[in-house]
Amino acid sequence: MIKTASLSSISNTTTTKPFILRIFIFSVVLSISILSFLLFLQSPHHLPYKKTITPPNTTPTPSTTTYFSSRKSFSQDTTTPPTTSTTNENNKHNNEDIIDTNNDNNNKNGAANDVEGLRTRPGYESYEKYVQRQLDKTLNPKLRKVWITRDWDRKVNVFSKFFSDLIGKKLLSNDSKALCIGARVGQEVAALKRVGVPNSVGIDLVPYPPLVMKGDFHDQPFDNNTFDFEFSNVFDHALYPSKFVREIERTLKPGGICVLHVAVSRRADKYSANDLFSVAPLMKLFEESEVVRVKNVDGFGLDTEVVFRKKIKSQWP
Ligand SMILES: *[C@@H]1O[C@H](CO)[C@@H](O)[C@H](O)[C@H]1NC(C)=O
Ligand SMILES: *[C@@H]1O[C@H](CO)[C@@H](O)[C@H](O)[C@H]1NC(C)=O
Repeated sequence: MIKTASLSSISNTTTTKPFILRIFIFSVVLSISILSFLLFLQSPHHLPYKKTITPPNTTPTPSTTTYFSSRKSFSQDTTTPPTTSTTNENNKHNNEDIIDTNNDNNNKNGAANDVEGLRTRPGYESYEKYVQRQLDKTLNPKLRKVWITRDWDRKVNVFSKFFSDLIGKKLLSNDSKALCIGARVGQEVAALKRVGVPNSVGIDLVPYPPLVMKGDFHDQPFDNNTFDFEFSNVFDHALYPSKFVREIERTLKPGGICVLHVAVSRRADKYSANDLFSVAPLMKLFEESEVVRVKNVDGFGLDTEVVFRKKIKSQWP
């Protein structure tokens, strides 16, 4: 019984086989081609770096794509050992320390410099070269003259507006101890004093007393937990952005405010040491802080204001 039944079913299928087989093959071929067409349509959007890292206003030429997507170029740019450290034996210990720590501490600094959307510019073989380039601008007599004459009032006015707004938002107050990082001749410090924050000072590689004292933002000359408020519009000048941020978080008091003006949708000047393509990398670098606000500003070529507040750590770890 069983045998005959199975035999008849076999003969049944053999008669209908070509038809079913044809339908089956047809549907398989159809679904494969639909699937591959869909995948083809989707594929460009699945490449995350194209979407997030291609800078605005830049046509994605092959060179830019590798430039911004390759982690190798990040690490090449930033961890090049100091080639000139043996030539300057005298008083460059501080600077060598900075570079050495950076190389030893590869994990920490490397991680920060690998932040997507933040690129350290190539071309600085050593910290000394970097400082020299910054000094070229800061010490340029023509520029300095302009800064302290023609530029002065205009800039102090604009900075005063920014700071008044921050006072209105209770992010700055007349009893804040305030620091301006990379202040050059100190127009922002003058503005702070003008809007009623008398306890304010600036630092830069070249001092401009009494408003600006000598200090490197990679290694601020202040104790931990010193300031209520720090302002800077020179983030793009930092050769080591992670150090720049760590020093701010170190010298800010818990609950202290940091205000950065950065260029996100346009490129900063030729003295810049890094390029930022969104505010996301900043949020990653400010590990000890929370974002208070992000807004568009028109600040001397810088288009974005980002405000952080250093977290107040729990006393019970
Ligand atoms: C700060 O402002 C408050 C009121 O706005 C005022 O009472 C206080 O005297 C001011 N302090 C200083 C140091 O100017
Ligand atoms: C200052 O802060 C840093 C990190 O924020 C810490 O490593 C260091 O030990 C502190 N120094 C002092 C003297 O507390």
